[in-house]
Amino acid sequence: MTLKWRTARGIQLEIRRVRPDDTKMLHWGFSQLSRETLYKRFFASVQQIPEELLRKVSHPDPARDHVLLAVRNDGFQEAPVGLARFHVSPAGKRCEFALIVGDRWQHQGIGRRLLDALVVEARRRGLQRIEGLVLAENQEMIRLAETQGFAILDSDEGPTIRLMRLELGALGWPRRMRYKGMELFGRLPA
Ligand SMILES: CC(C)(COP(=O)(O)OP(=O)(O)OC[C@H]1O[C@@H](n2cnc3c(N)ncnc32)[C@H](O)[C@@H]1OP(=O)(O)O)[C@@H](O)C(=O)NCCC(=O)NCCS
Repeated sequence: MTLKWRTARGIQLEIRRVRPDDTKMLHWGFSQLSRETLYKRFFASVQQIPEELLRKVSHPDPARDHVLLAVRNDGFQEAPVGLARFHVSPAGKRCEFALIVGDRWQHQGIGRRLLDALVVEARRRGLQRIEGLVLAENQEMIRLAETQGFAILDSDEGPTIRLMRLELGALGWPRRMRYKGMELFGRLPA
């Protein structure tokens, strides 16, 4: 699956599956992220992304992981702009997701497209539920999840962390979703 589009400023972007040879590019991409963006993703002050995590991200287990990379592609060279992944639970019924978009690329619809693509893949795999943890103060991610139909719930991690959950069963369509700039309300038939 590759999704291609141009931003309002005409920059060509695409979302594709991560590849083993992306490790170097990911390493560079993470080094460009602000402390705030890293904190929102990892819920802790992170100076450097552990090599082990980078290796895991770029060498996903196809049965359990789905990792998508958003890149700027000018036809010659790629540069990372966002990353999203989910990991399927041992029982194989639900998955946990996380995503991150580079500071200068935020607010351009990349996060929404990445989350959409994760949900599409989770449905394709027949999973029942997709969920992720988010800092309670992270209103941007919470709003993004809500507009994609996720419920925002208490988590087991205490009041500072919320759980975003989307049921993928027959009635799991978003209550409110965007389509080509329009807001659609109400459940759609399965
Ligand atoms: C949260 C995060 C992933 C959102 O990514 P993003 O690419 O900025 O998200 P989007 O651009 O799709 O949507 C964010 C906002 O931009 C708006 N937007 C989308 N396209 C836009 C455009 N072309 N021009 C202006 N605004 C736009 C959206 O309407 C949305 O606004 P809203 O929050 O008021 O509804 C990103 O901010 C991030 O990486 N944060 C740090 C890490 C993190 O918080 N991860 C989540 C924990 S799992």
